Parts: sequence; C-alpha cells; structure tokens
Amino acid sequence: MLHHHDRRKFIQGSSAALAGGLLASSLARSVHAAGSDEIRFAVVGCGGRGTGAAAQIFNTKGNTKLIAVADAFDKNAKSSVKRLTRHAPDKVDVPEERIFSGLDAYKKAIDSDCDLVVIATPPGFKPQQFEYAVEKGKHIFAEKPLATDAPGVRRVLKSVQESKKKNLCVGIGLQRRHEPRYIETVQRIHDGAIGDVVSQRVYWNGGGIWYRNREPGQTEMEFQVNNWYHFNWVCGDQICEQHIHNLDVANWVKGEFPVECNGMGGGEQRLGGDRTKSQILDHTFCEFTYPDGSKLFSQGRHLAGAWSHVGEACQGTKGTADPSLRIDGVWQYNGPSPNGHQQEQHDLIEAHLAGEIYNEGEYGAKSTFTAILGREACYSGQILKWEELLSRGKDLAPGIDSYTMSSPPPTLPATDGTYFTPIPGKYSPFA
Ligand SMILES: NC(=O)c1ccc[n+]([C@@H]2O[C@H](COP(=O)([O-])OP(=O)(O)OC[C@H]3O[C@@H](n4cnc5c(N)ncnc54)[C@H](O)[C@@H]3O)[C@@H](O)[C@H]2O)c1
Repeated sequence: MLHHHDRRKFIQGSSAALAGGLLASSLARSVHAAGSDEIRFAVVGCGGRGTGAAAQIFNTKGNTKLIAVADAFDKNAKSSVKRLTRHAPDKVDVPEERIFSGLDAYKKAIDSDCDLVVIATPPGFKPQQFEYAVEKGKHIFAEKPLATDAPGVRRVLKSVQESKKKNLCVGIGLQRRHEPRYIETVQRIHDGAIGDVVSQRVYWNGGGIWYRNREPGQTEMEFQVNNWYHFNWVCGDQICEQHIHNLDVANWVKGEFPVECNGMGGGEQRLGGDRTKSQILDHTFCEFTYPDGSKLFSQGRHLAGAWSHVGEACQGTKGTADPSLRIDGVWQYNGPSPNGHQQEQHDLIEAHLAGEIYNEGEYGAKSTFTAILGREACYSGQILKWEELLSRGKDLAPGIDSYTMSSPPPTLPATDGTYFTPIPGKYSPFA
C-alpha cells in the first residue's frame, strides 16, 4: 500500500490504538448494524466523476456497497445507478426510494444509512454538502475543488476542523498526491535533490471543455446548474476547476501556501467570445509569492489550436526537476504508474480499514483557495494578499443554502443577454 505523506499511523499500545480500532469499526460495520464488514456509501453528484469514483471504490479491498444517490437532476441520478448496476450488480443496492434529486437532495442521501459520502458536484455547492456530511458524522471523499469563493473556503476549513475532532476520514480528489511517480520525485525534492526551491512553473493549457445548451422549458437556475462550468459562482473559472491540480503540486513541493498573487487574463476565443453563453475566462497568468519569497508562475487556458501542455517544473539552488517524474540529469522515476483516481480510493479505503487517521481536507481547501486567489488577482488586476482575501473575499452565491431550481441564480444576464465578466482595474474582489 502506498503511504501518503500526510497520513499518520496511530501508535500501537496506547489510547490512540483504541481510537484507531473505533475508527475502523465505525466503517467496517461487522459488530454493528449490518451484520457484515460492509462499507455503505452514497454518491452526491452523479456525473462523470461521481459515477467513476463509485466504480473505483468498488475495486478496492473494502466490502463496499452503493446504497443511495443524489443529483440536481433525476435523469443523471438514475442513469448513474443504471450504469453502475450494469457494471457491478452485487455492489449496488439503490432502490427507487434512495434515488434523490433537486438542490437539497444531498441531505437525503447523506441522511441514508451510509458510512461514506462521495461528493462530486460542481464546486460552488460543495461547502454546504461537505459541512452537512461532517455534521452527520460521515466519512468523505470529495472531488476538488472544494469551493469557488472565500466564504466557501472558510466554511470548508471550519468543517475540516470538525471532521478531525470526529476522527472522520476525508479524501480529496487531488490524485497526483497518490501517484507514485509524483510521491517519489517530490520526496527527493524535499530531501534536497535540487537544493532550495526558488521558483516553479505550472501549466494547464488545453483546448477547452464541453458546453451544455439551454433546453426549452429550463429555468435559469436549471440552465446554469446543468451548464455549470461556464458560471463562476458554481465553477470558479478554469484556474479553480482544472488548474488547481498543478497549483496543488506546487504547494506540495513547497510545503507552504502562497501569501500573495498578481495576474492577468482574458476571454476572447471560447465560444467565439460570446458572453451570452459563458462567463469564464479562457486564459490566465499568475505570479504567486510564497512566504520565503520564492515564486510560482502559472498558466491556465482553454484555447483551441494553441500550445497544449499540462505539467509542473521546479527550479532549485542546485538543480531543476519535473515533480511528476524527474530530477533533471540525475534521476528518473521508472516504477509503476497506477491510475491516480483508482489509487486514491485504494488509499482511502485501506486507511479506513486499518483505522488510520486520514484527512486531506486542509490542503484540499487551501489549494482551492490558492486558485481563488489567482482568479481574483486576474479579475481585479491587483496584488492580492492571501489573508485579506480569505477574510474579506466576496460571496459569489449569497443564500446558496436556500436555492431551488426556481430561484434566480446569483448571476443573471443583462438586457442584451450577456453575463457579467470582470474588468481589471474596476472589479473589486472584496465583499
Ligand atoms: N480529480 C479530477 O481529475 C477530476 C476530473 C473531473 C472532474 N472532477 C471534479 O468532479 C466534480 C464533478 O465534475 P464532473 O466532471 O463529474 O461533472 P458532471 O457535470 O459530469 O457531473 C456533475 C453532476 O453534479 C450534479 N449536480 C450539480 N449540482 C448539484 C447539486 N447541488 N446537488 C447534487 N448534484 C448536483 C449535476 O447534475 C451532474 O450530474 C467537479 O468538482 C470537478 O472538478 C475532478
């Protein structure tokens, strides 16, 4: 089994070992309710990743069973159950009455008799869902990113503290941290292979993503929730939604989070620059500064036909490295490369079964905030400080806990049909 850098094993022969035993038995329910060692889980957000994560949980050593699902849309929830049942019929026990839909469906799935909740909804909804799962004492696997704004990150950080008090296991879908090629290379960097890291470069430069057209009869909320990638309050923009992976690697390498950022960006190519369709940018560039003064330069973009590159690079006082596999000119990773999505579920479930403390929530929330800091720096054109933005950054979805499919979403089209886009120099990131 892989040993994740943040995982601390309980020490044998102490009350901690007893706590470990309790933690394990809270998941493996042999002595309790089900009369077996079953790990019962629910999926909230039954799209590509929620369905994929469920299938990957089935492949672990745990005796896992999917018992409830929730999605904003009934058809997505049903189609996920159908696909998973076809894939692994003996691992799915989701009768009609445990298929929930709507924006409050997450509560019903979390309230089901499950031990573990998979949260794979768009990031704007994750803070409320993460908080509710912790409140109900459920173990969590949550996809990245965990929020789209500072109030959301603060809410998640608070819940992470609660989850630690309750000894809940929390896995976050930043799967590079579970891939041996990254783990071994980052360990060598931490051991001094390139000296002190003075600068890093990270990239998610790709061609673009899907667009889900407005359908007849949809409310504005239904349109935005379905087409979530294109609305900032629910997606967080490309830097948050996708580029977070590379920013997180840089934070891992440094063992720190940035203190400030400046940046720039724009959006003229996506959907022909049509602002009646999408609100987000198609390119950003950020310069982050870490507490020791070292720099992180980031490029994130969706520009079809342009240079594509996804990766990371580090410069140290004694050399350079690609943290995904290489200390340049010295060493290259040559071992197995298991799929990160699968490996993170092996690690989570094995930690559960072994009664280990396993909580990735804090770095998940702080890497989410790194991306939000970058986005707000690009939107405003200002140098933004981590502490100030975290404490005063604006709420992109006020009152989100009471949204329904007929509520007006927090961003509405202007009279010409265009959605708000920020103008640097005019946009304020503060509440
Ligand atoms: N770790 C990775 O590499 C990786 C890869 C892809 C996606 N993701 C993350 O997974 C999450 C989901 O992405 P996806 O690609 O599966 O998107 P998707 O659109 O395929 O699925 C999202 C699902 O959530 C549902 N949903 C929306 N709002 C909801 C709400 N309030 N309550 C319940 N369900 C709701 C949607 O109807 C949809 O079925 C995102 O946060 C994304 O960043 C991570």
